[in-house]
Amino acid sequence: MSILDNSDNYKCWRDKKLANVVDDINLCMVEIANPFALTIAEKTAIQRLCEYNNFALFAIKAQKDYEQAIIQINHQMGLVDYDQHLYAQNNGLAYVTKSNKIGQLGFITYTNKALGWHTDGYYNAIENRVRAFSLFCIAPSVTGGVNQWIDPQMVYLLLREENQDVVEVLSHPQAMSIPEHKVNGKVRRAKSVGPIFFIDEIDNTLCMRYTQRKKNIEFLNSTELQQALALLDDLLKTKTPYHFEHLMNANQGLICNNVLHNRSMFVDHPSKPRLLLRGRYTNRVTRALNLL
Ligand SMILES: [Fe+2]
Repeated sequence: MSILDNSDNYKCWRDKKLANVVDDINLCMVEIANPFALTIAEKTAIQRLCEYNNFALFAIKAQKDYEQAIIQINHQMGLVDYDQHLYAQNNGLAYVTKSNKIGQLGFITYTNKALGWHTDGYYNAIENRVRAFSLFCIAPSVTGGVNQWIDPQMVYLLLREENQDVVEVLSHPQAMSIPEHKVNGKVRRAKSVGPIFFIDEIDNTLCMRYTQRKKNIEFLNSTELQQALALLDDLLKTKTPYHFEHLMNANQGLICNNVLHNRSMFVDHPSKPRLLLRGRYTNRVTRALNLL
C-alpha cells in the first residue's frame, strides 16, 4: 500500500518530510570546488537536500568547458540516463536560450516569455518519464528570468492536509491528457494520458506531472477535477515557506528530482543573450545510503 491510499503510511511519510525539509534557500546552496571530482561532503550535501527537498542549488567557478563540467556533476549524482529530447544536443544537454531556429519556433521554452508552473516532460510516455533535471546558468539576462519552484511532494502534502478528496481526484489515472505532437503529418510524440500525482513504480516515490498551460491540454471532464485544479493553482500562486525563488547568476545551477517550476519573462543583454544548459533524466538523483 502506498502513501496515496494508506493513511498510516502517509502520516509517517509526512512527519518525516516535515521534520527534515529545509525552508531557508541559503542552506540549499552547495559550493562545488571541482565539478570533475565532487568531495564526499559536497555529494552528501546535494543528496541530503534532494532527499528531503527534491532539489539543491550549486555554484561552481568559471570553467573552460561548461558542458563537460555539468555532465560530470550530474553523472556523479547518478543522473546518467538522459531524455532523448528533440532539442537535446550531445550528452543530452539542451541550450535554453531565445531561438529563431526553425523547429524550436512555437516552443515557449525557447522564447523570452514567462513560463507557467510545470514539471519537465509532463507530455512524455511512461517509459520516458523525466524524473530529474538540471539547469545551469552560463549567461543571465539583463532583467527577469527568475525561477520559482516547489517540491511537488510538498504540494501534495499541503493539499492533502487541507482536503484528501482533492489529491484523490488529482491522482485519477485519466486526470490529464496531452494530445499527440505532429510535425509535417508525422507523429513525433504519442498522446500521453495519466494522473497528476502518482507513485513511480521504479522506486515507489511520489511524483507529479503537471502544466498550467491550458492550450493543448485535456483535463478529465469532471467538476471535482476542475475544483481540484483551481485549488492546486491557488496554492501555487500563494507563498508558502516551501516556495523558492532565485535568479540564477552565471555559474549557478539547480539539480532536482523534477520539481514544479516556472520562469518570469526576461530581457536579453544585446551581445550576450541569456543561456542556460538543461539536462533531463529518466533516473533520479542518487539517494544517500546513511541519512538519518
Ligand atoms: Fe521546465
